[in-house]
Amino acid sequence: MNELIEKAREALQFSYSPYSDFSVGAAVLCSDGSVFTGCNIENASYGATVCAERVAMWKAVSEGRRDMKAIAIVCKADQFPMPCGMCRQVMAEFMPDGDVYVARNDEVKSFKVCELIPHSFELEN
Ligand code: THU
Repeated sequence: MNELIEKAREALQFSYSPYSDFSVGAAVLCSDGSVFTGCNIENASYGATVCAERVAMWKAVSEGRRDMKAIAIVCKADQFPMPCGMCRQVMAEFMPDGDVYVARNDEVKSFKVCELIPHSFELEN
């Protein structure tokens, strides 16, 4: 857990957030042990902004990893960076049984994905 949080902190430096000045970093742990990091990337067309969590998960998927176990999230502000609704939905897709760690300084809160997004949307066969 602490290593994953440290990776998320490393990703913070790459945050591109000139509009909100709210830097976020994330790191996702895949079942094969690989780790992918992400930062939030904003855009002058605000809706084109993407969160750090989704960048990290999409990097994993685009490198062939679909089975994720945990994600750590940190931000520059002095608060616990709870993931937004869209990121929770993507977590439900790739890590439904996973753990979510949000860290503020030395404090860490831990959640299961299913408690952050109960009754998530999914396609029935
Ligand atoms: N942000 C994230 O990166 N993750 C979240 O879960 C919530 C919000 C980013 C998006 C935007 O760049 C900034 O934080 C302010 O909303």
